[in-house]
Amino acid sequence: MIIAIDGPAGSGKSTIAKMLAREFGFTYIDTGAMYRAVALKVKRAGIDPSDEKAVLKLMENTDIKLEPAENGVRVFLDGEDVSGLIRTEEIGKIASQIARFSQVRKRLVQMQRELGLKAKNAVIEGRDTGTVIFPDADVKIFMTASPEERANRRYRELVQRGLDVSYEKILTEIKERDRLDETRKDSPLRPAEDAVIIDTTGKELNQVFQEVLQLVKKRMTQK
Ligand code: DC
Repeated sequence: MIIAIDGPAGSGKSTIAKMLAREFGFTYIDTGAMYRAVALKVKRAGIDPSDEKAVLKLMENTDIKLEPAENGVRVFLDGEDVSGLIRTEEIGKIASQIARFSQVRKRLVQMQRELGLKAKNAVIEGRDTGTVIFPDADVKIFMTASPEERANRRYRELVQRGLDVSYEKILTEIKERDRLDETRKDSPLRPAEDAVIIDTTGKELNQVFQEVLQLVKKRMTQK
């Protein structure tokens, strides 16, 4: 069974995807982590993320691996565990920039599809999992929330981690990432026609999880 969860940055899709994977013992595949790993390499190489040729050249000799871990996935870039290093706003932005390039997508999509097929039972999460990677997924969910709510969640999370951040800046960054992800030509962020749209604005995490759980269980009995 393949469960595909898509949605914008900060919609809560990663948290829900991980909870679902744990609940059913499915493999969790975080596709965004792979774009982030490429982004980290681009940053380290000092390449301009809008320079398609240079990014593609760099990708030719890039090895990315995802490994299931206790708390989600571990991400390896050319053999180095970069799981922590890729979780910054800056890398998220670069990831979104390089995700515009069709050749970058083609390669990562192929790997993501292979991972899902190998796992057989998987929760796969990203922007195009229900539209491009697994158009025949058994369950398709599109999670969303207002930009203000998403920025607020992110703000609280960063403050809790002791960081000095500005809500306004986070909101601007979220809107910019939405714009990049929604307007790119190849596989723009959008719900699959047969996706169930879940708006998490104003909802508690557990409430959303129960909603998704019911949906998945229903599909399981239909299979
Ligand atoms: O989900 P995330 O924030 O880790 O993703 C980072 C960026 O990677 C996102 O802004 C766009 C890109 N991405 C993508 O284009 N397709 C995916 N399936 C996953 C992520």
